[in-house]
Amino acid sequence: MSGMKCRRCKAPAVVEIRRHNASFCRDCFVRHVQEQVKRAIGAYDMFGPKDRLLVAVSGGKDSLALWDVLLELGYRASGLYVGLGIGEYSSRSAELVRAFARARSAELIEVDLASEYGFDIPTAGARGSRSTCAVCGLSKRYVFNRAALEHGSDVIVTGHNLDDEAATLLGNTLRWQTDYIARQCPILPAEAGLVKKVKPLYRLSELETAAYAFLRGIDYVVEECPLVAGNTQLRYKEAMDQLEATSPGTKAQFFLSYLERGAPLFARQDEADLRPCGSCGQPTTGRFCAFCRARAQVTGTRLEEPVAPTTPEAEARELASELAGEVLPVEIYGRAGA
Ligand code: AMP
Ligand code: FES
Ligand code: ZN
Repeated sequence: MSGMKCRRCKAPAVVEIRRHNASFCRDCFVRHVQEQVKRAIGAYDMFGPKDRLLVAVSGGKDSLALWDVLLELGYRASGLYVGLGIGEYSSRSAELVRAFARARSAELIEVDLASEYGFDIPTAGARGSRSTCAVCGLSKRYVFNRAALEHGSDVIVTGHNLDDEAATLLGNTLRWQTDYIARQCPILPAEAGLVKKVKPLYRLSELETAAYAFLRGIDYVVEECPLVAGNTQLRYKEAMDQLEATSPGTKAQFFLSYLERGAPLFARQDEADLRPCGSCGQPTTGRFCAFCRARAQVTGTRLEEPVAPTTPEAEARELASELAGEVLPVEIYGRAGA
């Protein structure tokens, strides 16, 4: 970095973004990140200043950086932390999220899976028929939606970044999951019983969110979740990182050009009809939603009808339509190595 100058103000630079072929000083970099978020919000008309935002925060750099940017921009943004019960990793994340909220006097909603729903993620992974990441992803999405409905939030905001989206698109493309590809959009509109979801970090890489968090003094959990080691999504990320190392800009080109030129070519398929889950009332295509079925299986309780085992393909189809437009990373619709 020595000798490099900020692209905007010519002060000594502290961050270099190779894909933009640009360097920034601290203040101009913070502004760059804010501008990318504003651009994302504007491009998809994600929300406005009157909307009540529910920012899902994991304690990691992306979601905390995002919450910080949104608060700085003056949005009405509450946080939502879901306690997954993953030992030290979860307790540390919870502490950091609480400290962040306290320091900014921001509202934080906490939902603990074990105390509210009777199971934690390690148990669900060990006992249920789904992989740990699958049941984790499905539980988080479920809790996000329920919490947003209960708190009257207008939109659920998640911290998925450019690296996440590029890796998911790579996975979906390698398998030609055209229906998932068609849904890989930074905004999913609200529909019956499902709150609108948006991903305002889709234009920013992991390196940028990490640099932002560092420069803003945000304390975040650095470790990855201990349960994801070796997961397929992670391998796709590594593959994208290798391409990026030799050709900076590959990830952005792949994902942002997809949005611009690829997405219109993939027509959205009709969503299945949603109706209230017979147990919890959340939208589902079946009689009971995937969350309630997973929960019954893991806690050994019975829904009114037996929890029938299903093929991974049938389950993937059901989950996809149930989450109405949610793009599923490969971990959720296919098992590693399958
Ligand atoms: P992941 O699925 O872990 O890649 O996380 C994607 C996004 O989901 C994060 O950027 C957060 O917005 C949200 N998220 C993940 N874990 C949690 C959690 N435990 N509580 C609340 N939000 C979360
Ligand atoms: Fe979901 Fe680790 S955070 S499996
Ligand atoms: Zn249910």
